[in-house]
Order: sequence, then structure tokens, then C-alpha cells
Amino acid sequence: MNPFVYYAPTKICFGKGQISHLSELKESGSRALLVYGGGSIKRQGIYDEAVRILTEAGITITELSGIEPNPRVESVRRGIALCREHRIEMVLGIGGGSVIDAAKAIAGGACYDGDVWDLVMDHSLIRAALPIYAVVTMAATGSEMNKNAVISDLGLRVKKSMGSDLLKPRLSICDPVYTFSVPEKQTAAGTADIMSHAFENYFSMIDDFDLSARFGEAVIRCCIRYGPVALREPDNYEARANLMWASTNAINGITKAGMEVGWSCHPMEHELSAFYDITHGVGLAILTPRWMEYVLNDKTVRKFADYGRKVWDLTGTEDLAVAKEAIDKTASFFFDTLKLPRTLRDVGIGEENFEAMAEHCAPRLADAFVPLTKEDAVQIYRNCLS
Ligand code: NZQ
Ligand code: ZN
Repeated sequence: MNPFVYYAPTKICFGKGQISHLSELKESGSRALLVYGGGSIKRQGIYDEAVRILTEAGITITELSGIEPNPRVESVRRGIALCREHRIEMVLGIGGGSVIDAAKAIAGGACYDGDVWDLVMDHSLIRAALPIYAVVTMAATGSEMNKNAVISDLGLRVKKSMGSDLLKPRLSICDPVYTFSVPEKQTAAGTADIMSHAFENYFSMIDDFDLSARFGEAVIRCCIRYGPVALREPDNYEARANLMWASTNAINGITKAGMEVGWSCHPMEHELSAFYDITHGVGLAILTPRWMEYVLNDKTVRKFADYGRKVWDLTGTEDLAVAKEAIDKTASFFFDTLKLPRTLRDVGIGEENFEAMAEHCAPRLADAFVPLTKEDAVQIYRNCLS
């Protein structure tokens, strides 16, 4: 077990009607920047409700709309300019992970004299941030309770996470009802993303910290149970609530405590999004089973067999057979049950940029569960072609 610091300053207000807690923003002042995406929050009535509560609490709102999935640094810069122009005291993101990440980057950038891209490239420069608040509208990234903001400069073909405890939201509203309207594709991609966060921490050589591993398995099992229900019955509260809480807990430090390892699929996926602007969870679903096959070896077989027995209830006694069956089950869940694209070709990606993408992500793969080189990354991308 590794030593760890677990720091969770975010107040989570979970369940139906918890948006009333937005009145608590007044503790941070009276001028808020409201950040949102392409309009889903208007169609669902969340926007009107939020504006009403904030106005009644005496908060003046400045708006930044149009945050893109895979949020761009250009949008973040626009938000920072608004913060300066309107002397903004807090930033509220209402939407999916992209919106919340943009809100976090704006909050950090507003307190920094240089260009916000410096903060993306060097987290140590984040020394202050405006208070951050979130209303999350889809279950996927867990951004509502973690320190990360993933920002893209598509011109540079760089998508990178800026991470700091200063970027942890003060308060996040998680109302599962808001996720009833999440389209099928995003529900499936979000479920794959939640599972991947749990996998990244679970597949660790550390095997003496039972509790964190069991938390991870619980998150994965929850996705396997409720992902398909949410697809079949989008307004099933039980399914949406369980996915939402799994999403928050997959990446708030709970499944990682004591297990600290470098991640594998996320660095490789961020290259796919940076080069091709694809949906994050889709890229992860394509990569994960191929990565699992690639890193299955004499040293890792026990861990994969453990995964098969504890998550998929496999009963075989031979570790290698159980490990392989568990990987097949994972692939079948993503591609047959969640109906996510199976190959890179299915999302329009060929091998033209594999070398460049692998070159970018290789440094982050050096301390992964199974350390990977640039050549390994190229091979995994290749294996995802068919
Ligand atoms: O823009 P709007 O109109 O809001 O529509 C969004 C968007 O088109 C829509 N949507 C969200 N909630 C909805 C809804 N549509 C109907 N009803 C609702 N209730 O869904 C689309 C995708 O939204 P987005 O925010 O992009 O999805 P997600 O939450 O998956 O966020 C993905 C981004 O987060 C990053 C990803 O890389 C990607 O950039 N990540 C952030 C992490 C973090 N902060 O910790 C960790 C993750 O690993 C991930 O990298
Ligand atoms: Zn993710």
C-alpha cells in the first residue's frame, strides 16, 4: 500500500431538487460567471431554474455559453476575459465534464497574469483560483469532485489535463433527473469512461490494499448493472442515480487511495481526441480491451483473473483462462451491450498519426501498470484498427 493524501473539499448535494443549494453561492460574493455548453441545459429547464435561484440569492450573472465537447482553450480565454471585465467572484459550470472543466480552467486562469495555456502545461503555476461550483448533467468524468480540467488546443493537437487541489469545486449539485435526457451515445460513452477511471486505478501492482480494490470493483459492477438499464429506460431514476454516484466516486480519489500508478488508456485516448476530436468515452472503449490483451502476461495474469472472478463472477480455476474470458466480457460489454464503436476505423481513424500520438503520450506511459514505450503504444493503436 502506498502512502496517500486524500483531500475532498467538495460539498456534494445529491438527488432530486438539490439545485436549491445554488443559493449558497452567495457565500463567495455576488458576481458569478455562468458557463454552459450548446444548449442542453436550456432545453431541460435547468438554466431557468438556476437563473431564478441565483437571482433570488442576489447574485448577478454573466454568461459564457457554447463550451464545446473537448473544451477548447480559446473558450477558456473568452471566459477569463469576462471574469476580468465583470470583476467575477466565482465560476459556475452547468453541464457535462467539458463545461465543468472549462469552468475550472477559467477560475484558475482568472487568477493568473499570463496565458492560461501556461497552467495547462505546468500545473505548479496554479497558485490561486476563483471559487468553483458545478451542476453536473451527465455521468462520466467525475469532474464535479476532482482536481482536473482537461483542455484542448486543437491547433497544437494537444489535449491535456491541468490538475490542482485549487480546482476542486466548492459545491456540486448532482441531480440524476438531469441525466434522463442524455442521448444514448453519450450515456454509453459516459459509462465506459466511468469504468475506465476505475480500471486505471484498479490495475495496479499493489495488491495489499483490499479496500480500494473493492471500491473499484463496486464502481465497475455498478456500471455493468446500470449502464444497460439507463440505455433501455433513460428516465429510470435508480439507474441514473447509481451511474451518477459511480461516476463521482470513480475519480475522486477513493478508488486510487494507496494504489497510485500511472494511467494507461487515458493518455493514449487523449491523443485520439486531440488529433481527431472524438468522444472521450468512445476512444476509451476502443482502447481498453486491446490494452488489456496487450499487457496480459505472467506478472499481470493474477490481477486480470481477480478482475474476472470479482467483477464478472467467473468461476474457472485456471488464471489465464479466467483472465482472457474477463477481457472478452469487457469487450462484449462495450461493443455488444453498450453498442459503442469497436475499432478506430469505425470512428474514421487510420494509422496516419500513430507515431506522432505515441510519441506524445509515451512519457506518461512509462510508469503505468505495465510500463509502455512509444512502440508499445503504436502497436496498441494498430491492434485497435480491426
Ligand atoms: O453542450 P451541451 O448542449 O450541454 O450538450 C452536451 C454535449 O454535447 C451533452 N449533454 C450533457 N448533458 C446533457 C447533454 N445532453 C442532453 N442532456 C443532458 N443532461 O453531451 C455532450 C457531451 O458533453 P461533455 O461535457 O463533452 O461530456 P463528458 O461529461 O463526457 O465530458 C467529456 C470531457 O471531459 C474530459 C474529456 O476528456 C472530455 O474533454 N475528461 C475530464 C476529466 C476530469 N475533469 O476529471 C476526466 C476524464 O477522464 C476526461 O478526460
Ligand atoms: Zn476519462
